Amino acid sequence: MNIDFDRIPRDALPALLRTMPKAELHLHIEGTLEPEMLLRLAHRHGVALPWAGVEALRAAYDFADLQSFLDVYYAGAGVLRDEADFFELAWAYFERAAADNVVHAEIFFDPQTHTARGVPIDRVILGLHHAARRAHQELRISSGLILCFLRHLSEDEAMATLDAALPWREHLVGVGLDSSERGHPPEKFARVFARARELGLECVAHAGEEGPAAYIEQALDLLQVRRIDHGVRCTESPALVQRLARERVPLTVCPLSNVRLRVFPDLASHNLPELLAAGLCATVNSDDPAYFGGYVADNYVQLFAAQPQQLGAREAHRLAANGFEASFVDDATKAGWRRELDAAFAAAMR
Ligand code: HPA
Ligand code: ZN
Repeated sequence: MNIDFDRIPRDALPALLRTMPKAELHLHIEGTLEPEMLLRLAHRHGVALPWAGVEALRAAYDFADLQSFLDVYYAGAGVLRDEADFFELAWAYFERAAADNVVHAEIFFDPQTHTARGVPIDRVILGLHHAARRAHQELRISSGLILCFLRHLSEDEAMATLDAALPWREHLVGVGLDSSERGHPPEKFARVFARARELGLECVAHAGEEGPAAYIEQALDLLQVRRIDHGVRCTESPALVQRLARERVPLTVCPLSNVRLRVFPDLASHNLPELLAAGLCATVNSDDPAYFGGYVADNYVQLFAAQPQQLGAREAHRLAANGFEASFVDDATKAGWRRELDAAFAAAMR
């Protein structure tokens, strides 16, 4: 299909960004826990919280850096106890994602946050899996679950977590690496990622969010990841940017997260246009939308509004197409989404 991007008026862009089909590849399910659900589950389970209500919770969402966010995020996740809680959490996300025309989501979860509190891993995986199955049937959203290891814990603990998840191997598409980046380089997890690869799991890792470009190189060389989560600090190494472009390693970028965690001072300074201009397979995602002020379409709309000279219809199409390209599905499925995407852009031409 021939799309003439110059024939898509600027004022049509926000609606197009919201309605175009998209994949979401960097989304922590625990980061979709909205204050109302958090308080409801705390009440249900008699969990005492340091926050009195929705207002106090939202006021706590003023973060200085990644660690100050993680402290609140892990405390919030403490209200998730039963399989039904994980189902409810994920189902609410899928309903919200459907409103943004997310057609495919690859979703992170942090089992160690829950098993450390005595919640068995099967409740976590099965609750999420059942919501994913229903989302496929009722919302036509396909998805995959990515089990993340907490990098502030040891590799032995990561290995034990992988072993504990094996009975539900078929419900997982891959493994990831998240939590506090500085001081916890990818090399710490080389053995557990090798084991995950042997099991046929796709590998991804957060790198180059707060950590240096060298962590991105380690994730590629030592963990052999297929995508880098965040990766925005790659621009500190021109040689690395060239490599990422040459090898077409996707970056799952999260603009609102980067501003809320002070990786960039504001959206106008975000380097996503630079990443695209360098030919990288950059994608737009929401990370922890309940904490960072917006879901995936909000990320697109607010970023494009902040950088109107750099980001227009062509870049919108590129980013959504990159998301499909970077997903862990077969080529025929990707081609189908790509046709839907092209049709949405063709319909917006004037
Ligand atoms: N970075 C690292 N760990 C995380 C994040 C993130 O952005 N969100 C949830 N866990
Ligand atoms: Zn993340």
